[in-house]
Amino acid sequence: MTYSEASEVSLESRSFLNPNMQELWHGGDYNPEQWPENVLEEDMGLMQDAMCQVATIGIFAWAALEPEEGHYEFDWLKRSVDRLANNDRWFIIATPSASPPPWLSKKHPDILRTGPDRVRRFHGNRVNYNLGSKVYREYTRDIAQKLVEAFGGHPRLLAWHLSNEYGGADYSPESIAQFREWLRRKFSGDLGALNHAYWTSFWGHTYRNWDEIEPPGEPYGETSINGLTLDWQRFVTDQTIDFMLNEAAPLREFSPDVPITTNLMGTYPGLDYRKLAKEIDFVSWDSYPAREGRLDESEPWIHAGMNHDIMRSLKRGKPFLLMECSPSSANWYDFMALKPPGTHRFEGMQAIAHGSDGVQYFQWRQSRGCQEQFHGAVVSHCGAHNTRIYNEVKELGQELAHIADICGTTVHPEVAIVYDWENRWALNDAQGPTRKRKKYQATCFQHYKSFWRLGIPVDFIGMDDEVEEYKLVVAPMAYSLRPGFIERMEGFVRQGGTLVSTYLTGWVDENCLTFEQGFLTPFRDLLGIWSEEMDALYPGDSRSAAWLPEGLDFLSENSVAAVSQSFTASDFCELIHAEAAQVLATYTEGFYAGRPALTVNSVGKGKGYYVASRNEQGFVDAFLSAVAHEAGVSRAAEFEPVEGVTAQRRIGNGSEYVFFLNTNLEPVTVVTAEWGKILLAGRDVTLRSRARVPVGGVR
Ligand code: GLA
Repeated sequence: MTYSEASEVSLESRSFLNPNMQELWHGGDYNPEQWPENVLEEDMGLMQDAMCQVATIGIFAWAALEPEEGHYEFDWLKRSVDRLANNDRWFIIATPSASPPPWLSKKHPDILRTGPDRVRRFHGNRVNYNLGSKVYREYTRDIAQKLVEAFGGHPRLLAWHLSNEYGGADYSPESIAQFREWLRRKFSGDLGALNHAYWTSFWGHTYRNWDEIEPPGEPYGETSINGLTLDWQRFVTDQTIDFMLNEAAPLREFSPDVPITTNLMGTYPGLDYRKLAKEIDFVSWDSYPAREGRLDESEPWIHAGMNHDIMRSLKRGKPFLLMECSPSSANWYDFMALKPPGTHRFEGMQAIAHGSDGVQYFQWRQSRGCQEQFHGAVVSHCGAHNTRIYNEVKELGQELAHIADICGTTVHPEVAIVYDWENRWALNDAQGPTRKRKKYQATCFQHYKSFWRLGIPVDFIGMDDEVEEYKLVVAPMAYSLRPGFIERMEGFVRQGGTLVSTYLTGWVDENCLTFEQGFLTPFRDLLGIWSEEMDALYPGDSRSAAWLPEGLDFLSENSVAAVSQSFTASDFCELIHAEAAQVLATYTEGFYAGRPALTVNSVGKGKGYYVASRNEQGFVDAFLSAVAHEAGVSRAAEFEPVEGVTAQRRIGNGSEYVFFLNTNLEPVTVVTAEWGKILLAGRDVTLRSRARVPVGGVR
């Protein structure tokens, strides 16, 4: 049985970012406004040579597009897009709202951002605007309208790129008034309901009037009402979406066939991207893996895989676009360590393997001045043809053209990890069981890593998402539960699904109020346990635990070779009581020795597991491998696991495309029974060019 048969995914399905361009996109941010005509002419030859077909223009170009109020200078942009089109290139146009022109800030200083200290910032930098300003919204809508009138019908326009990396929060009087309105709507005008949800009788914080409510936060604001803090973050997302939709409106109206996107930032904490993504046509994002560590180690690449999967899953069943990556280094890293030869190809192919329909760069040409003059670019200050980076970009361009058939296909996982922004906010703000270091991200990563090693594709979903298409749902630290989630998980398990939950689940509701009968109450029947206490261990402390015979049977029945019988827990040890659940492992140390550390409960046709402690990676690997096997989850390919190697699979266009990705500095051989036609030679999917042995191929 093929993977697509096993997962009931249509082998034929295809979904394009833009059906006009059924090849993998390759190109990047392009700033013709910074360069004279002779350079722009040279760019055309270089773009053709480097097989860069897609240029993103105008991101920060407002001052060039409207140098004085009402005086538009679009000629340079028109010449640029025509030049691109005449040279068989495509383009994406951005709305320029990320950086208002100086004249606008001068005329209307209140369009500028106000910080949490309630001090309005000066003009400058970027994303420094007042999200709540009606005046700014009029201007941003107006310039978008002018852009769509001028370029909306251009046959080579592939997409609209809204603004740039929306983010941050605004504390201007207008935004505060909007927040109060938002709260009024949420609580249907009932201040008593708000006071109850926020438990404001604590420390005498009861509100008598909506105007008494201030946005929370450092340095001088309220930090003790968790529900308020959570609502503020929800509001910031809604306000940002509102801001975005305002500038998107003319684009939607006058060029309804041109897809709209905006460049997201992976696991950026400030916005609930799952909500925002509903308003755009395809997801695109900016990936800089060195943010996570040294690129000569595997870990940042596993992080990059997780980030790609998080981004792809914002629109399940569709490809996404890697909108920005650096062909070499980024100037905002502490150290601009160069990517050794081959690394860039790996980075690009990894994105493709995870479902990207292209590789775009920040930036095409290095700017001569200002903050990003040393940031990596396809064309550097010393030119193009003779440079290593340019030539690697060109090689990648050739390879992307070679596998163009993959365009429109995507990854269809059978496993979902619940990674929920609201839960993350609630956890971060919880004043216990540790104040900091709860490590929600790291815990999601720990679980992801086990699947990555096995080559099991993973989606990341939120608590509001449907789950029928999955066989296994892992919900680490689901601390703040939204009501629909509980019901959905129950239905999922009853119908035969497998749920894995962990310590710190179900402590509070969606307003950060604890449940009346204590932790885990809403999941008590499903998991067959109840939770009494949580031990937060001092850093460096640990507790041992051991598999019971039932647990060892479960491992061996599911093809997991006997690991050591004991394992080590750190950070969190929850003290639970088994009711209907079967105990698979117990603590063996401390005053809670003998208490359950791992349980399983059968409900309907499915099962619910509960992992009570934060355990070492070896435990997570063995446990999830057994659970996935028991749940009938397929791997992207059957191969003998090799440290630092994973597999991914895209399905569609009548094919299954398997990628083997080797993050090691050394070549490896992957032993697999699954060989079809090899589309890319092994060197294409190894991290280092000195790889001698082909790692694998693409079927
Ligand atoms: C972000 C921005 C770009 C550029 C790069 C630099 O992703 O969107 O404009 O500043 O960072 O890495």
